[in-house]
Amino acid sequence: MEPSRPHVVCVPLPAQGHINPMLKLAKLLHHSGFFITFVHTQFNFDRLLQSSGQNSLKGLPDFRFETISDGLPPENQRGIMDLPDLCSAMPIGGLISFRNLIAKFVSSENEDVPPVTCIVSDGVMNFTLKVAQEFNIPEFMLYTPSGCGMLGYINFDELQKRGYFPLKDEKNVCDGYLETEVDWIPAMRGVKLKDLPTFFRTTNSNDTMFNYNRESVNNAMNAKGVILNTFQELEQEVLDAIKMKYPHLYPIGPLSMLHKKNSNSSSNNQLDSIDFNLWKEDVNCMNWLDKKDKGSVVYVNFGSLVIMTTKQLREFAWGLANSKYNFLWVIRPNLVDCGDEVISNDEFMKEIENRGLILGWSPQEKVLSHSCIGGFLTHCGWNSTLESICEGVPLACWPFFAEQQTNCFYACNRWGVGIEIESDVNREQVEGLVKELMKGEKGKEMRNKCLELKRKAEAATSIGGSSYNNYNSLVLKLKFEK
Ligand code: UDX
Repeated sequence: MEPSRPHVVCVPLPAQGHINPMLKLAKLLHHSGFFITFVHTQFNFDRLLQSSGQNSLKGLPDFRFETISDGLPPENQRGIMDLPDLCSAMPIGGLISFRNLIAKFVSSENEDVPPVTCIVSDGVMNFTLKVAQEFNIPEFMLYTPSGCGMLGYINFDELQKRGYFPLKDEKNVCDGYLETEVDWIPAMRGVKLKDLPTFFRTTNSNDTMFNYNRESVNNAMNAKGVILNTFQELEQEVLDAIKMKYPHLYPIGPLSMLHKKNSNSSSNNQLDSIDFNLWKEDVNCMNWLDKKDKGSVVYVNFGSLVIMTTKQLREFAWGLANSKYNFLWVIRPNLVDCGDEVISNDEFMKEIENRGLILGWSPQEKVLSHSCIGGFLTHCGWNSTLESICEGVPLACWPFFAEQQTNCFYACNRWGVGIEIESDVNREQVEGLVKELMKGEKGKEMRNKCLELKRKAEAATSIGGSSYNNYNSLVLKLKFEK
């Protein structure tokens, strides 16, 4: 009898910035001969039916979808404010539901679905490892933030031991305390407290997000291997430091580049067309971009979780308008905490008519690859940062939370591809930095650095490159690990 195909169960955290890299990895593995089960939460599956349509969720005979519960009641919005609820509910409701799913596979006599060979779970879906161990299935974890972000989380234990967590006083966040230099993380020279992942900024010693993220990195040490969406040539020193604790480390990024190269060489259009956008993508913006001059447009997007105040939105709006550059701005329906009246303001509408386009969700990777994009005003989510580097587009960074601050530090101070906007954003600064980004001396330097990194990323993902080789080692491990 022919041996059955290796079967990987992929479990992303149910958030856009985690689903995207997991989907790319799943497609790559499918291309490498794996049978794939991709697990959505029921809530996201229902939502995707609305935003991405039925076709995206049909799957293929050997690339199938399953759902689990995230443990939250249906009325919960699953927004940024609900993250602590999600992190509390998943280890209970998610665990039960995921255990049932794996039990179903194990007892199934369906000949169309081969036995599960291994689980590839998001690094912050802790509970999956418990189930994997119960059923004696090897588990690998895809940790979706940057290497520097992961190293920040790895040092959460140390932050507590050294008394930086919990904060003595909420005022610490504003009184200059966060400017304290952190000189005890060898691979992170020059980093200050404000550059570390933000979840330690609380006076609550039982904070859910701090504990959840700390446990996640510690938990990942028990997995058979940790996969990172980064590449050796970008984060050498940081990756060496992580490897001391996680010897089975697979930096295989940028996943978008590795995936693109693979999809060029395969002809599985049906699989390539699968995309999971939690908001409805507006592809018409590509026609608008086609009419603009090379390098003349600022792309503005704050990812899937940021929530800003109306005042912040207004400062960005007028900073952009006053810079006199064209701008393509993604304003997600829930980006602003209480309405977006500045956008319907008459004077600003005139500016938009002249040089702006606002939309609810963009085909971001396509946008970034368009030759008219000259710079990216971003929150520094890791996917956005890496996607921009892959297209040689420099960044103006307004990090919001989590490890976005760490990504911003590295982009601005180590890689030389970004300039930072103060958290207390004002229009004059936005105007000045946008001008610098688009046509200033610093902007030019950043663009050159970005192009250099893009070439390095190309090399890393080409035959014989570091990510290419790591990916091949990973495939062998996934096929044969017991
Ligand atoms: C973030 C960061 O991923 C992560 O580093 C942090 O730990 C938690 O929050 P997110 O805000 O989703 O997540 O940002 P990002 O990592 O940049 O991911 C967003 C993804 O959605 C990117 O792949 C981007 O291409 C895509 N996107 C975003 C679109 O396709 N269209 C849009 O309009 C906006």
